[in-house]
Amino acid sequence: MLRKILIDCDTGIDDALALLYALKHPQVQVLGISTGFGNTSADQAAENTLRIIRLAQPGYEVPVFVGASKPLEGDWAGPNVKVHGINGIGGVVLPRSEQKVSAEPAPDWIVRIARQMPGELTLVTLGRLTNLALALQQEPRLPELLKNVVTMGGAVVAPGNASPVAEANIMGDPEAADLVMQAGFNLLLVGLDVTHRVQLSKAHLDALSRHCPPENQAISDFLQEVMEPYFDFNRHADHFLDRCPTHDPLAMLLAVDPTPGIYRKMPVRVECGGTFCRGMIVADRRTVPMEGPYITVCVDVDAERALETLLSVFTD
Ligand code: BDR
Ligand code: CA
Repeated sequence: MLRKILIDCDTGIDDALALLYALKHPQVQVLGISTGFGNTSADQAAENTLRIIRLAQPGYEVPVFVGASKPLEGDWAGPNVKVHGINGIGGVVLPRSEQKVSAEPAPDWIVRIARQMPGELTLVTLGRLTNLALALQQEPRLPELLKNVVTMGGAVVAPGNASPVAEANIMGDPEAADLVMQAGFNLLLVGLDVTHRVQLSKAHLDALSRHCPPENQAISDFLQEVMEPYFDFNRHADHFLDRCPTHDPLAMLLAVDPTPGIYRKMPVRVECGGTFCRGMIVADRRTVPMEGPYITVCVDVDAERALETLLSVFTD
């Protein structure tokens, strides 16, 4: 069965791998990709996305929409150059695409396509939840119109990465994230609890370059180049040696095939105030939890299987 997927992202290094996975997957049709601020600006993320689509050559049109340039409240802190380089994709310069971004703003596109295809679409969010929150403000029935939402974000019991307790996508717009958690979406949260356990290594990339068919050689070369600065960052951040977590790729993988994950349902809120805890996920794991819609949280994952599945779309 063909899965119809919408992607909202902030095309940085790990977003790029997630996009390539979706665009190369034979059972996935990507109906469009929207971008927002985060790893880089919304405009730069869109430019990166156009180039990634060109690299993937999916064989069908994938429109690109630009969305939020700042969070619902306050300003954007600026690009995360330390993690994702000067252009969001580690400074790697991919060939330009002929394709242009669509004129329609990202939240309008999400609402329009969800109304056109009610109950059919999976939205995968790989960045801040600002575009989805803005779409929800336009169309409060969005939770019924979308089949499901898969979100890379948060940390339920694992430490944060943007602060001791907060993950970057949630920390980047806690107000938007909390609106989304409360809206009643059929939502799967894929957070640092599991993305940190699925580690892509230089050895995986070397194996990929040995086993990829000629038409995917450019993808393999890009991954080798783009992951180098990401491995460096992760060595300094977490003492990882030539390996990195797979945040966005794991969320995309589980959106397509949830079977490598183990899940629990719980109400989830986001701390929007606080001195030390802004952006923290507050997941109620008590037997009798607080009132509120239940969110599905990925709590464990078969890491080896996830990695091999991830790379399988590029191999022969
Ligand atoms: C998330 O933040 C960004 O740096 C990554 O692209 C990912 O979406 C991980 O915390
Ligand atoms: Ca991202």
